[in-house]
Amino acid sequence: MKNTEQKNIHDNFELEKNYDFSDGIRGRFYKPKKIPTSTKMFTNTLEKFKLNNSLFTEDEKTTAIESFETKNRTNDSIKTCKYYNEFWTAKQRAANNIHEVSYRGCFKPQLPNFFIKNLTSQGDVIYDPFLGRGTTILEAGLMNRQIIGNDINPLSVILSEPRLLIPDIRDLSTELDNIHLDKNKKADIDISMFYHKDTEGELVSLREYILNKEKTGQLTNIDKWIRMVATNRLTGHSKGFFSVWTMPPNQAVLPNRQIKINQKMKQQPEYRNVKELIKRKTISLIKNISPQQKQTLKNIHKTAFFLNQDASDTKKIKNNSVSLTVTSPPFLDVVQYETDNWLRGWFNGLDTKKIGKKITMAKTIDKWTAVMQNVFDELYRITKKQGYVAFEVGDVKQGKIKLDEYVAPLGLNSGFDLIGIIINTQNFTKTSNLWGVKNNKKGINSNKIVLFQK
Ligand SMILES: C[S@@+](CC[C@H](N)C(=O)[O-])C[C@H]1O[C@@H](n2cnc3c(N)ncnc32)[C@H](O)[C@@H]1O
Repeated sequence: MKNTEQKNIHDNFELEKNYDFSDGIRGRFYKPKKIPTSTKMFTNTLEKFKLNNSLFTEDEKTTAIESFETKNRTNDSIKTCKYYNEFWTAKQRAANNIHEVSYRGCFKPQLPNFFIKNLTSQGDVIYDPFLGRGTTILEAGLMNRQIIGNDINPLSVILSEPRLLIPDIRDLSTELDNIHLDKNKKADIDISMFYHKDTEGELVSLREYILNKEKTGQLTNIDKWIRMVATNRLTGHSKGFFSVWTMPPNQAVLPNRQIKINQKMKQQPEYRNVKELIKRKTISLIKNISPQQKQTLKNIHKTAFFLNQDASDTKKIKNNSVSLTVTSPPFLDVVQYETDNWLRGWFNGLDTKKIGKKITMAKTIDKWTAVMQNVFDELYRITKKQGYVAFEVGDVKQGKIKLDEYVAPLGLNSGFDLIGIIINTQNFTKTSNLWGVKNNKKGINSNKIVLFQK
C-alpha cells in the first residue's frame, strides 16, 4: 500500500490514552475512532471488493463510481454508489465445465463465485431462491459451502441436483447400455419437426424408462444424471444435440415455428444416436472436475436442500440461517420460461401449463416490484445477521428500465442495509465514458448486482 494511503488510514484513528509504554514502544498504538457499526460493515465490504477507491492503487481501483440516492421505508434519503469495473469474467480463470447446461437467463458462474469468495467462508449457507439451472449452488458446492436452492419450476432440480452426484463414466456407460431403446416408438405429441423418426423412437423409449422408474421410486442417481443430460441435449444448434438445428440458446421454439425454420433452412432432421450423445456430453461436463471436487460436491449434497416453492414463501428455510443469497429473478416478462421450456417439460412429464401459471410474469414495473417486495421480506427472515443478499438484475427494455434502482428500496423496506450497486462492465475499456448506459444500450454485457446486508 502506498504511504499516503497508509497515512489516510492511520489518520482515521487516534492514539489510545491509557497505553502502557513502560516496555518500550514496539509499534504505533491506535484506538479506532468510534464509527457506527453499519458504516464499519460497509467499509469492510467495500474493501473486500476493492470498491473503495481511496484505499487502492491505480490498477486496483474501481473504474468508475457514480453516486446514487434512494429512499428507505420512512422516506429518508439513502446515499450510496454504483461501482463499475470488470470485477469478474475475463480476469478470472474459466469456470468449471460442469456448469455447461444451457438455461434461459442464466448467469455466468464467475458472478456467484465473486460474492461467495469475498463474503463467505467454508461451511456457510448459500441460497438461490430463483435457481434456474443451479449456477449459484453448484459454484457454492465447488467452494465447499452448504447450499439451498429453490425454483417454482421443478425442472431446476432436475437440471441441478444430479451435477452434485457425478457418476463414474464406466458406470454411466453400463447403465446406458442396459436401457433398451426402441427406434420404432412414436411420441404422444408431434415432434417430427425436431427429430428423425429413429431418434424420436429412442427418445420416447428413454422418456418412458425414466418416468416409469420415477413412478415406482426406483430412479437412481445415474438415472437422474442421464435425465439431466438428455434434457439438455433435446434441442440445440450443433450435431451434439438430438434435434435438427434449432434457435439458440437451445430452448425449443413452438412446433409451427420450427417447421418454418426447417423450410427456410431447407433442413430435415438427421438421425442422432441418443446414448452416444449422452456419453459425449457427460465426458465434456466432467472433463475438468477433479476427484477432490467430485468428493466435495458429493459431501455437500448430503445436506443440500431443494425447494419447489414461490420464492416469497419458503417456510422450510429456517430464520436467520443463510449467510449469502446470490440470485437473479425473472425480469418482468422478458423471458417466457413456460413456452421456452415446453419440450423439456414434455420429456420430464411435467405439466408446463400449470407451472407456467405460477411463474412470475409481471408485465408492469409496479406489479414486479410488488412481487419482489414479498421476496425481500422472506429473504430478510432467512438471512443471518450480517449476512448478504446479492440481487442481480440486467438491463430491461434496452436500458430504459433500470431495475437495479427499483430493487434498492425494496431491500431497504424489508430491513436490509444497502451497500451499493455493483456493475460488471465486461466490454468497457478503461478509458471509455462509463457514466450511464451509453456503451450498453443493448444491455447484453452488464450484470447489475444490488448488494444488501442484514
Ligand atoms: C433468471 S432465471 C434464474 C437463472 C439462474 N440464475 C441461473 O443461473 O440459472 C429466473 C428463474 O426464476 C424462476 N421463477 C420465476 N418465478 C418464480 C417464483 N415466483 N418463485 C420462484 N422461482 C421463480 C424461473 O423458473 C427461472 O428459473
